[in-house]
Amino acid sequence: MPRIILHLDMDAFYAAVEQREHPEWKGLPVVVGADPKGGKGRGVAMTASYEARKFGIHSAMPISKAYKLCPSAIFTPPNFPLYAAASAAVMEILRSHADKFEQVSIDEAFIDVTSRISSQSEAEKRAAAIKKEIIEKEKLTSSIGIASNKLVAKIASDYRKPNGLTIVEPGDESSFLSPLPVRKLIGVGEKTELALKEIGINTIGELAAAPMDFLLDEFGKVGMYLHQAANGMDDSEVEESYGIKTINRNTTFDEDTKDEAILFATVDEMLEDAHSHLAASNFRCKTVGILARYEDFETHTREKTLPEATTDLSMMKATAKQLLKQFFSDSRKIRQVGIRLAQLEAVDRKQKLVNDYFT
Ligand code: TTP
Ligand code: MG
Repeated sequence: MPRIILHLDMDAFYAAVEQREHPEWKGLPVVVGADPKGGKGRGVAMTASYEARKFGIHSAMPISKAYKLCPSAIFTPPNFPLYAAASAAVMEILRSHADKFEQVSIDEAFIDVTSRISSQSEAEKRAAAIKKEIIEKEKLTSSIGIASNKLVAKIASDYRKPNGLTIVEPGDESSFLSPLPVRKLIGVGEKTELALKEIGINTIGELAAAPMDFLLDEFGKVGMYLHQAANGMDDSEVEESYGIKTINRNTTFDEDTKDEAILFATVDEMLEDAHSHLAASNFRCKTVGILARYEDFETHTREKTLPEATTDLSMMKATAKQLLKQFFSDSRKIRQVGIRLAQLEAVDRKQKLVNDYFT
C-alpha cells in the first residue's frame, strides 16, 4: 500500500513573520538580513518577501546587490526568537495531525499520515485544514506537497509557492518530476548540476532516461541515488526527530577585523540568538562550533563536543571563546565569523528515541 506523506514549508518564512508583526509592511517588498547601509553594506539577505522576489532578490544574495535591485524595499535585521516561537507553534499544529513527524529545518517538516487517512482526496482535505489552522492561529501561509514518499512530497511543496497545495498521485511520480530541472532533487547541488549539464542532462526526465551503468561510471555511488531519485523512488521513512539538528549563525563584518573584543562580542551575540532559538524549541546542545573566514576568504572551522548536552548559555560562550582564540595567532584579519550549535537533543520529549536518532 502506498504511503501518504506530507511536506510542509512556510512561505518566505522570516519575511512573513516580519509582515505579520508589522502589518504596514504587508504587500511590500521586505528583505530580512544584513543592513544594506545605502548599498555599501556587507553580509547577505536571509530571505525576501514574495513582493521583493519580483525584483530578483533571494536568499543568500549579497545585501548590496539586493539594495541595488530595490533600494526602496524595507530592510530589517532578523529577530530569531520571534521566528523560533512561530516555528514551534507551526510544528505543534503539524505534529497534532501526524502519525510520524520529522522537522527538517526551522520552517519545514514531513508528516506521515498513512494510518489515519485512506485516500488522496482525504489527504487533500487534511492538508487544506492544516494550512487553514496555521493561518488562523499564526497568521502565516504555508505550502504543502503530498506524495507517496518524502522526495516527491518535498518537491511538490515547492511546486506552487506561495500558499500552494500540490498532490502527486501514486504512479504519477515520474511524470510529475520529468520536466523539472535536476537541481530540484534533494542532494543535487551546484556541482552535480554542472556535471550533469556537461553530459547534456538538464531535466529530471533526462536523468531518469540515462542508463544506470552510465550514471554509475560517471558518479559512482551517487549515480545509483540519482537514478532512483530521478525515477521518483525513495524508501526513506519519516523519522521522529523532534526538532532541528543544528543552529547556525554568521556575521560578516563591515570592515575585516583582528579586534578580539569585537570578535568575542559578535560571537556572544550570535550565541544569544541561537540560544533563545534552542530554548524556544526546548532543546539542548552537545557540540559548539566556530567558523572563521579570513580576509582572503580562506575559511576554517573548529568544534568542541561537551561532556554533556547543555542549555547553559555561559558554558556555550566559554567554549566558543576557547575555540575562537585559536584563530588569533594568524596574522590575517577576519572577514566573517559564525557559530554552530549541533548534536541537539530534546530536553524532555521521548528522550531515548531522540538520542538514538542523533547518534
Ligand atoms: P526557506 O524555506 O528556504 O525560504 P523561505 O521560507 O524564506 O521562502 P520559501 O517561500 O521559498 O520557502 O528558508 C526558511 C528560512 O530560513 C528563511 O525564511 C530564512 C532562513 N534562511 C537563511 O537564513 N538563509 C538562507 O540561505 C536560506 C535559504 C534560508
Ligand atoms: Mg520556506
